[in-house]
Amino acid sequence: MGYEGIVEEIKSRVDIVEIVSEYLNLKKTGENFKALCPFHSEKTPSFVISPSKQIFHCFGCGAGGDVFSFLMRYENISFQDAVKLLAERTGIELKFRKDDTEKQGRRQVLLEIHRAAAEYFHQLLWDRKEPLDYLIRRGLTRETIREFFLGYAPGGGDVLFRYLTDKGFSRDDILAAGVCKKGESMVMDTFRNRIIFPIFNIRGDVIAFGGRIFREGSMAPKYLNSPETTIFRKSYELYGLYHAKREINKKGYVILTEGYLDVIACSQAGIRNVVAPLGTALTEHQLRKLKPLTRKVLLLFDSDDAGIKATMKAFSMVYAQGMLGKVVLLPEGDDPDSYIKQKGTEAFRRLIGNAMGLVDFYLATSRSGEVETVGELIRIISKVDDGVMRAKLVKDIAEKTSLAEVFIREELTRHRRGMLDSGGTLNISSHAMGVEEMLLSLLLNHPEYIEEVRKEVVPEQIENERLRRIFLKLLNSDSGDIISRIDEEEKAYISRILLDTGFDEEELDKNVKDCIKRLRERGLRKRLREIQEEIRIAAEKSDRELLTLLQKKWTELVKEGQQSGIL
Ligand code: CTP
Ligand code: MN
Repeated sequence: MGYEGIVEEIKSRVDIVEIVSEYLNLKKTGENFKALCPFHSEKTPSFVISPSKQIFHCFGCGAGGDVFSFLMRYENISFQDAVKLLAERTGIELKFRKDDTEKQGRRQVLLEIHRAAAEYFHQLLWDRKEPLDYLIRRGLTRETIREFFLGYAPGGGDVLFRYLTDKGFSRDDILAAGVCKKGESMVMDTFRNRIIFPIFNIRGDVIAFGGRIFREGSMAPKYLNSPETTIFRKSYELYGLYHAKREINKKGYVILTEGYLDVIACSQAGIRNVVAPLGTALTEHQLRKLKPLTRKVLLLFDSDDAGIKATMKAFSMVYAQGMLGKVVLLPEGDDPDSYIKQKGTEAFRRLIGNAMGLVDFYLATSRSGEVETVGELIRIISKVDDGVMRAKLVKDIAEKTSLAEVFIREELTRHRRGMLDSGGTLNISSHAMGVEEMLLSLLLNHPEYIEEVRKEVVPEQIENERLRRIFLKLLNSDSGDIISRIDEEEKAYISRILLDTGFDEEELDKNVKDCIKRLRERGLRKRLREIQEEIRIAAEKSDRELLTLLQKKWTELVKEGQQSGIL
């Protein structure tokens, strides 16, 4: 493993929060951590550490970066020394340092073996009628075959092994590359009598192969892939990435499909920003690989039950990565390859142009009721770190369902706090915190609403004590600037609310009104419950007079609620 590998490995093993907490006193504020910034002098913490993003940022002095940046600055050391420090701490050092150059050399040999094998397979294909005819019959042009460097692995058992040995590669290296394997009595080629799809890494090195049978009625598995090796981890790689990366950049999004031939068919049709996982479900590692190229992902999976499930899972991962997803549903039974062949490139382009968003997709395909479906959506959205993105999705749900935005937001808040049971059903009855926090956040950011809220909401309607204290201070100020009048704990609380909430700036009026209405409804219902209890007691005591009084009160309240549209 090279330097890059070590850095990645370290990052995957250390937690920035853990490291920074060895130097600074961290305070948890919601999903992030805060501390007094060590890089400039301050009395109140503006140094934020995000465990989910594994970064830190000081809102006071602007310092920021990853765990390495922190150590470099704090210890005043170089990047290399920061890597060394963390490698020692995580125990990676011993394993990698010793024979680093040796490993690097080994990696080169494995890449050379793959290059030699790929060239050999590719040359063979042009002379073999049956596999070449198969590909051409499936609509591939010679140019496409050349571009993706498709090949043919001969039958016979150890043809490739002998070829590579003759070229001077050692038996051990050939086995380590995975292109051959140990049989009972001899070394055999991994791929025999198959069409070969070389798998390239993002830099364009061949690092593995996929092999497909080409005779109908064969009992062998349709596809075979290289085993995992030191240069090939299939959950990290994407088929077609090397060929697609420039176009992904240019188009600003990536299309994710399922099969090798889908990638190739799309590319041949001129849609070249297409990649596929390697015969497994999409993984987080693969998405992370795409992220530096683009944050927009178009999912193009089969639309059978399995495909829809895979799409839902993929959507969830895409959003958890802070990326944006859309989906195209192909007619059932079709994959991109067959669709293009039957309906043509233009029809396919139109299909892609009509991609659906997350919310539409769930509402269109879910077999559950609206409430459960929204519950599933909320579960996905709750993983999105970016508040603006969350707010947009919430608004989208509210527009397309019968549920009010404020309900959805409350559920989301509860979810993000992990207050929901793992079943995660949408429960509209317990929502105390959401609406209160949202109102507070709105007022902190937009003090111009304080006046209105002061008229409509009484502090007793805020059930959370700490929030009520802050709320009171807010109502007694005109500027919303209460920082000087609250204690450290309240401050940290407020900063979290400020960082965390992503309400839609264009819908402020509506959001404030929703909150007020929600609070009043809650207050009213509470009073009604109390009266009901008193009525029950009065009835038990047969207190006619009290009963009449309470019933009158009840009717008044209900009428009041109906008149103001609350009940
Ligand atoms: N796959 C696999 N092993 C199998 C079947 C499939 O690894 N036995 C993987 C391959 O990466 C394949 C992808 O899953 O490209 C999608 O499978 P499928 O839709 O069955 O194949 P297609 O790519 O559509 O190939 P073809 O059109 O030739 O059937
Ligand atoms: Mn297919």
